[in-house]
Amino acid sequence: MKIAVFASGGGSNLEALLNACHRSGPARVALVVSNRADSGAVAKARTAHIATSIVGDPRDGAAIVRALDEAGTDLVVLAGYLKLIPPSVVAAYRGRMINIHPSLLPAFGGEGMYGKRVHQAVLARGATVSGATVHLVDEEFDRGRIVAQWPVPVMADDTPETLAQRVLAVEHQLLPAVVLTAAHRGRVEALRVSAPDFAFKNAAAADLTEVWRGLASPIE
Ligand code: GRF
Repeated sequence: MKIAVFASGGGSNLEALLNACHRSGPARVALVVSNRADSGAVAKARTAHIATSIVGDPRDGAAIVRALDEAGTDLVVLAGYLKLIPPSVVAAYRGRMINIHPSLLPAFGGEGMYGKRVHQAVLARGATVSGATVHLVDEEFDRGRIVAQWPVPVMADDTPETLAQRVLAVEHQLLPAVVLTAAHRGRVEALRVSAPDFAFKNAAAADLTEVWRGLASPIE
């Protein structure tokens, strides 16, 4: 399965995907798309000898679809892409485009809710649990059907930075798990785990990817 990753920032999720794809085979990152030529994500792509496409106008859906089609994209992964995906791109890749968000959606999502702002909002509200969500992309920010979630405890002395770090560590396992499952099954599948798995795996900080095996189910 050929993956196109969209990223505007540092690209740590891209890096996690590259590491996972390298190990496992069925998925390959074929293209990295960014609206920022100077982003860490683009630098990481170049280091890994992956084709890059810099978006001139993020609203130009036709140009984005062209770049994706030319790369033979099967699955689009938004990993810290800060621009709204044009409706024509959503339509062309409906059901084949996922996003990772650093909270338990639908809480703490939507326009303007990205990066540190998400974690600040979680702490301001006094939530004791946050987490990471992978969801299908539709026409609105952070609103598509949820594919997989993993909760992360919020500690009493957390700052936005410490909470972001704990959530990001989970993102780095959740996103590859979803992508590898999709590559194995040939389509995006919902991943569900039981409560004991959550508790155990959070405590053990073990490799979450193992937990997902055999737990996928088709998205209606
Ligand atoms: C992640 O927290 C992701 O959930 C959000 O943006 C951040 C990207 O981080 N959408 P990185 O660029 O992958 O390090």
